[in-house]
Amino acid sequence: MSKTINVLFLAAEADPFVKVGGLGDVAGSLPRALRALSNDDVKLDVRLVLPYHPAVKAEGLKPLGMFSIPRAGSEVGVEAFETMLNGMPVYLINGDPIRANGSVYSLDANLDAEKYSFFSLAALALQKQINWFADVVHANDWHTALSIYGSLTRRWEEGARHVAGVLTLHNLPFMGPNISGILESYGIQLAQTDLPEWARVMPLPLGLWASDAIVAVSPTYGNEILTEEYGCGLDGFLQMRRDTVSGVLNGIDVALFNPAEDTALGANFDIDSIEKRAVNKGLLQERLGLVRDPEIPLLAIISRMDVQKGVDLAFTALKSMKSVKFQAIILGTGDPKLEEAAHSLHELFPDKIKIELRYDAGLARQIYAGSDMFLMPSRYEPCGLSQMIAMRYGCVPIVRAAGGLNDTVKQGETGFVFEKAHHMALMAAVKAAIKVFSNKDKWKKIQQTGMRQDFSWENSARKYLDLYQSLVK
Ligand code: GLC
Repeated sequence: MSKTINVLFLAAEADPFVKVGGLGDVAGSLPRALRALSNDDVKLDVRLVLPYHPAVKAEGLKPLGMFSIPRAGSEVGVEAFETMLNGMPVYLINGDPIRANGSVYSLDANLDAEKYSFFSLAALALQKQINWFADVVHANDWHTALSIYGSLTRRWEEGARHVAGVLTLHNLPFMGPNISGILESYGIQLAQTDLPEWARVMPLPLGLWASDAIVAVSPTYGNEILTEEYGCGLDGFLQMRRDTVSGVLNGIDVALFNPAEDTALGANFDIDSIEKRAVNKGLLQERLGLVRDPEIPLLAIISRMDVQKGVDLAFTALKSMKSVKFQAIILGTGDPKLEEAAHSLHELFPDKIKIELRYDAGLARQIYAGSDMFLMPSRYEPCGLSQMIAMRYGCVPIVRAAGGLNDTVKQGETGFVFEKAHHMALMAAVKAAIKVFSNKDKWKKIQQTGMRQDFSWENSARKYLDLYQSLVK
């Protein structure tokens, strides 16, 4: 008889229900990839639970009824719904703290703390309601980290059985605010932890402290968070826990991101018909109002406008490339200051640099399929998904050697990698890439090697499976 491992997978967002960034991609695809690994020996019953944000799009919701959790001498109501996603049960949790906060992430840290604390605890309580109990609680980032801490304190108080806690780190600097008041209102005690004092009241550190395994979203990021440079003050603590820290590279949805079948493209292509990319390049140049010329290198930035992503470095680098023949397209929204900087860059080079300051998934795929180089000079990058998508579409990445970028792009083989977070270093890499671009055979080889990389979820999901198995033994 096969053994079943029940996994409650919590996230703030998951595609296709609601997606703001990379976390949504991962939480939308990893749980399903895990379920698909079920075999004769082990069945993985992974179930996803999400807050029922107003922005959530879901069909065929089945109400699971109301229940409540104790708070501040009274109780707070929880409304739960169930839907299915390719055979996977997905739960949506609603309640006043979720309704009180219209957006997925608010600028008001306390509203977010109230919402996600409620969500994390309600998701734990849901298990009793549906009479299904997790062997592993798998949380993601600060928003849901409290579920692991809450599951541990419940065990202390109620003598409940051991439930393994896995916390995946997509972005360490975001730890959540001080939630000591919120914990008190839910009757959750603050443990004597060996966390640095400032961190003892924050959801992410508490979740890390209570977890059995800490997983960074790439092997390099798993090492980086142990250092002062990237450890955000928790490096000492993480070093003490280093036996439980690992790095598992995210995958991408290779069915969705497939240039051979992508309906957004003017011409579909694969590794053996890569010359058809030229059609996409021409269409893109036309659509953007650029000179239609296959010989001019077309550079792309598709990114949140955020200093994390180093877009400012890219802007400065492009600005100082007056005498170089190139075209560029910048797509994305975010920090108003960076959007402003993108505007000035376009005004400086109106004919060669185009900007589209919005989120547009279709245009993004046309850019991956039609441009020659993809710039990603991130200051830090836990994993990064765009560079993998770019490679899959034959667009050559130019990246900083940080986190997942370092694990996915090979200098000279699949892209161009530079070390220093400085615009001069990026500019040197871009110039080196442009030089290779003029050698058609060499360039094609880099494109094809990139397209040949396996970025599917399968390998990575298997690592999570091994981890679950080691924890529930
Ligand atoms: C965060 C990180 C990014 C990672 C994504 C998914 O957005 O910044 O590097 O790819 O999470 O794990």
